Amino acid sequence: MDSTLNLTDKLETQLSKDIISALVLCSKTAFEAEYKIFLIGGVVRDLILNRKIADIDVTVEGDALKFCHILADKKHCKILQVQNDLKTVKACFKNNVIIDFASTRQEFYPRRGHLPVVVRIGCTLEEDVYRRDFTINALAISLNENNYGDVIDYTGGVKDIENKKLRVLHDNSFNEDPSRIIRALKFAARLNFHRDEHTKELQRKYLTTQMHDDISWSRIKSELKQTFSLNIPRAYDMFLANDTYKLIYGEKPDIKGLEIKTLVDKYSPDYTWLVYLGTVLSNQKIIEAFCFTRAEKKIFTDKEFLLNNNKLNLHSSNYEIYKFFEKRSVESVMIYYLLTKRKEPLIYLEKLMKIRVELNGDDLKNMGILEGKKIGAMLDEILKKKLTGKIITKADEERFVKQQIK
Ligand code: CTP
Repeated sequence: MDSTLNLTDKLETQLSKDIISALVLCSKTAFEAEYKIFLIGGVVRDLILNRKIADIDVTVEGDALKFCHILADKKHCKILQVQNDLKTVKACFKNNVIIDFASTRQEFYPRRGHLPVVVRIGCTLEEDVYRRDFTINALAISLNENNYGDVIDYTGGVKDIENKKLRVLHDNSFNEDPSRIIRALKFAARLNFHRDEHTKELQRKYLTTQMHDDISWSRIKSELKQTFSLNIPRAYDMFLANDTYKLIYGEKPDIKGLEIKTLVDKYSPDYTWLVYLGTVLSNQKIIEAFCFTRAEKKIFTDKEFLLNNNKLNLHSSNYEIYKFFEKRSVESVMIYYLLTKRKEPLIYLEKLMKIRVELNGDDLKNMGILEGKKIGAMLDEILKKKLTGKIITKADEERFVKQQIK
């Protein structure tokens, strides 16, 4: 165990004064009430890497709920949320500092790939860290008075951070939780780390022999979302090259991550991650299992529509191109372009997508066109002219309508 590294200075420089004050209160209370508490997981990893800290996670050796009640009784914090079965607590300290407290726990996976069942709450820190995914996420920093700031490293995580290595803690890791395969991708892309050879081998084994359907798809979806939202081309290239896409029964397209990033940067879609994912995922069962929102799901149905109903050809007019893509989500148009490399979706994205008729039905009524059908036809005529560039401004539209009425 490497306990020589002390990060007290790093804590002071990288965390805000308010967070440090909250941690010091926790530390004093732990000392008085004889608890052992530690910063744990991502916060430790990111402190060592000098990265921005997203969440403050503290683990309590014992019962975090009881510990937080002591803090709350002393008016150090307010308890915001409690999860009773796991004994985890979200608490708010002065100046809105939020800390997530977890009780140390050991877990057992009753069925491969399913959520774990907690076997013991209040185990030792060492027992707790072995349920985790990678050595770089199994590090703790003591918040206890006798060794405040010491890094507790049972699994060689500090060395792995130095060597930019992603290493699972045991051979069964991916069987227990296949979403870790995507987590490896996320950390590899975000931190520019690499999986060690053994971890690669375990992943390969899982993807070739041990796949199964009844796994926690919501975890996999959440990790894919985090990974592809990074908009890092390498994540996508690795996703294909490492066969990770097989986890979601994807189809391997001939696309490079950089092509997707270039499109995404240019057209800023709402769902960046789904442009990446949509080029690979077509399997209906998985699409259902991901429980997408209505807007997310539309991207996949639009993509299928575009792929299966193409009536465009080299001579299609701007109007025909516009009509084909008009009602489709911009993400699906991008996916369609990436998969087919046709020029029409690019013409649409580049030139036509932004074109709108500015006059509306009421405007036309005021100008004397009263019949609903005629209004629709006139709006369509205006659109045709706008798409050819013969009409540009609202004043042009009005002029055109007046001419037609005459
Ligand atoms: N963890 C795990 N297996 C998972 C998910 C999480 O072992 N499938 C553990 C890791 O030790 C991780 C911790 O739970 O550090 C907290 O999880 P999470 O907040 O998802 O990850 P972070 O490491 O904080 O990563 P991020 O920076 O992306 O939030």
